[in-house]
Amino acid sequence: MNDADLVGVRPFELSADGRTLKLLDQRRLPTEEVWIELVELEAVARAIEDLAVRGAPAIGCVAALGVAVVSQQLGDDPVTFRAAVAAACERLARTRPTAVNLFVALDQIRHVLDRAAPGEPVSVLREQIRSTAEAHVEHDLQACLAMGRHGAVLLPDEGGVLTHCNAGALATAGHGTALGVIRRAHAIGKRIHVYADETRPVLQGARLTAWELARDGVPVRVIADNMAGALMAQGRIKAAIVGADRIARNGDVANKIGTYTVAVLCRHHGIPLYVAAPWTTIDLDIATGSDIPIEERSADEVRNHGGRVMTPADIEVCNPAFDVTPAELVSAIITEKGVHAPSELATLGR
Ligand code: MRU
Repeated sequence: MNDADLVGVRPFELSADGRTLKLLDQRRLPTEEVWIELVELEAVARAIEDLAVRGAPAIGCVAALGVAVVSQQLGDDPVTFRAAVAAACERLARTRPTAVNLFVALDQIRHVLDRAAPGEPVSVLREQIRSTAEAHVEHDLQACLAMGRHGAVLLPDEGGVLTHCNAGALATAGHGTALGVIRRAHAIGKRIHVYADETRPVLQGARLTAWELARDGVPVRVIADNMAGALMAQGRIKAAIVGADRIARNGDVANKIGTYTVAVLCRHHGIPLYVAAPWTTIDLDIATGSDIPIEERSADEVRNHGGRVMTPADIEVCNPAFDVTPAELVSAIITEKGVHAPSELATLGR
């Protein structure tokens, strides 16, 4: 099986002249496949905030490419150029707080300016920002393919595999993290079928995971979030695999809200829970999951559904976008470096 056949959809693309960033608008999937073109910094920032692009690795890639696009519009005065690039990085860093990949990618861009000689012409800086952003994207794709190779052997030879949210090609530069492992397992002949939690309130599982797996011929069934426990009790789920937005030094995992519930259910039923994430998701500067900033999103995501109001008007709701699964509930963490016990991350270096 050729790696190229397993990449799946690539949800963003820099135009050949580097002046436009094209995004598959994930808010409109699965009913409409609409590509939007972004040129302005504010449009890139809003695309991340409003979930036109989402998923930890994809956010980092798009932010880096976004700065590259913005840098094309700036003039040739080095002082003004540097200030504008720094401001662009600051604006994009304020879009979403939990996924650490965003900050890793922006730091890589800032580093271009930090290591350049003071008199370096803007034309050179522009080119270096673009190549750094493109290298970040390529590194993410290769990391996902490596995770797929490392992780596929862990999945059962047959039966149901549960996933939560969308940790697929749509959430990365292609192939996916958790769904990359699933794609590879399917490709090497494992007779697995995926149960995709619908993942309220934004339905990344029902809309996105189902869309991309069906598109690529991987058997998938959508379940409402409250169904996984019953399926586990019936023996219909053999393993669960999810992505991550940030992993602390002790192996605690922040991922889409509801992952913790899945983890507790897995432990109760003796089912392994695997986390697949690129090394850029591991934040060795953060000691435990309780230090990970958890994004609180708009109450309207919970109040409204499918264009209808589902709650009494103005009722108070909670809408944390992520939760933290303690390391002790995670069977293994799959990265591009291999398969790790959550407790050994700190010993593996940066
Ligand atoms: O709010 P989202 O859709 O950006 O949340 C995405 C997730 O929680 C994913 O599971 C995570 O980013 C891993 S994606 C490879």
